[in-house]
Amino acid sequence: MTTSNADARIEWVRSQCRLLAALREEYREARPFDGMTIGTGIHLEPKTVTLLLTLAAGGAEVVSTGNLNTTQPTAVDYLRRNGVTVIGGPTRDHEEHQEFLAEVIAAKPDLILDNGGDLFARYLAAPYDGLRGGTEETTSGRTRLAELRDQLAMPILVINDSPIKQFGENRHAVGQSVFESVLRITNIMTNGKRVTVFGYGECGRGVAMNFRNAFSQVTVVDNDPVRRLEAFLDGYAVASREESVRTADVIITVTGARGVLTADDLPLLKDDVILANAGHFPFEIDVPGMASSSTVTEVAPGVNGMDSWTLVDGRRVHVIAEGHMMNLSGPLPLGNSIDSMDLGFALQARCLEAVAAQRVGQEDCVVPVPRFIDERVANDYVLLRTTAEESLGNSADPLSR
Ligand SMILES: NC(=O)c1ccc[n+]([C@@H]2O[C@H](COP(=O)([O-])OP(=O)(O)OC[C@H]3O[C@@H](n4cnc5c(N)ncnc54)[C@H](O)[C@@H]3O)[C@@H](O)[C@H]2O)c1
Repeated sequence: MTTSNADARIEWVRSQCRLLAALREEYREARPFDGMTIGTGIHLEPKTVTLLLTLAAGGAEVVSTGNLNTTQPTAVDYLRRNGVTVIGGPTRDHEEHQEFLAEVIAAKPDLILDNGGDLFARYLAAPYDGLRGGTEETTSGRTRLAELRDQLAMPILVINDSPIKQFGENRHAVGQSVFESVLRITNIMTNGKRVTVFGYGECGRGVAMNFRNAFSQVTVVDNDPVRRLEAFLDGYAVASREESVRTADVIITVTGARGVLTADDLPLLKDDVILANAGHFPFEIDVPGMASSSTVTEVAPGVNGMDSWTLVDGRRVHVIAEGHMMNLSGPLPLGNSIDSMDLGFALQARCLEAVAAQRVGQEDCVVPVPRFIDERVANDYVLLRTTAEESLGNSADPLSR
């Protein structure tokens, strides 16, 4: 992507993040972070650029670095041109990444926006005066920081534990993004296809729902009988595991568990089946084990990062992105929708604002987003989306739409 194209993409994202745009306006007046430094280590891409610039509009000096492997140089360049300090650049080197995080903490931020618990853990290794608390984005960070609660003893609000994040992002956005990725990578028609989804958590529910809405026949497999019942009552087929694998044209794993599909399943698979993983780790489909099975005679690279295996009996099996998270693979992997990230990042900004204003206290250490923030963000989102639509709908002149 050329720089001007990259700028255009960032500006498109900024224009679509309506909650953050409204917050930016509010923060320019209210200056909730005046005189404060916010330190963060986060994926640096267009959606997080929008968040960091919103915090800067509120008076914060933002000191940031990227995550391993995901930093987009064009995002770094845009942030620097707009007054945000970015330490380092793209790196795949763990040690180098640790040095960048250390530099963020060396700036002695008043607030931390953490992603995986690295920055708070670093703070504990060399504490300084003035840290008020902050936020943690992920479940894995929550698990790590919960063990350090007694030492941290400051407000830390966990964004992933908000119901808004669960249904707004995990259910609706991941489902849509996985569905979009299957179309983008394979270009197949989904109508009438038999799609088997392993895992009926928030993410699996979204995946199943999006394929059903696109006229696929969806079967759900879940180890948990209660989840299986839920899928059944939601109208999905819940056949035996074997039948669900045997009949599928497309199989998607989204469980978080290891070895959901293995070489033992090769004899069951239908000719031309497509396998994809949407779970966080690439071990849900045992791709190395399956590809090296004696029943696989050929492994050929296919289109858009998809590999095709030929089995001894002539059947073909196609695997997307070697079993890595498929909605972040292939050409133009956009990840979750802008609007869903706008929701999650509005939670981030409101939580940091609450910590800055000391509306939450030491007892709120590694806890879910407080209800008053969830309600505020929910109300604002609905208001912003419906007000615009109603005024469009009420327009006297239909051509003015
Ligand atoms: N692709 C993305 O953009 C994206 C975004 C968010 C989360 N994730 C990942 O998606 C995965 C699922 O997340 P979630 O929030 O839905 O998790 P969850 O824990 O709510 O649900 C997982 C479900 O899988 C079931 N399960 C576990 N092992 C199974 C197996 N072997 N066979 C069948 N079912 C099995 C569990 O019973 C559970 O119902 C996680 O790895 C998460 O990190 C991906």
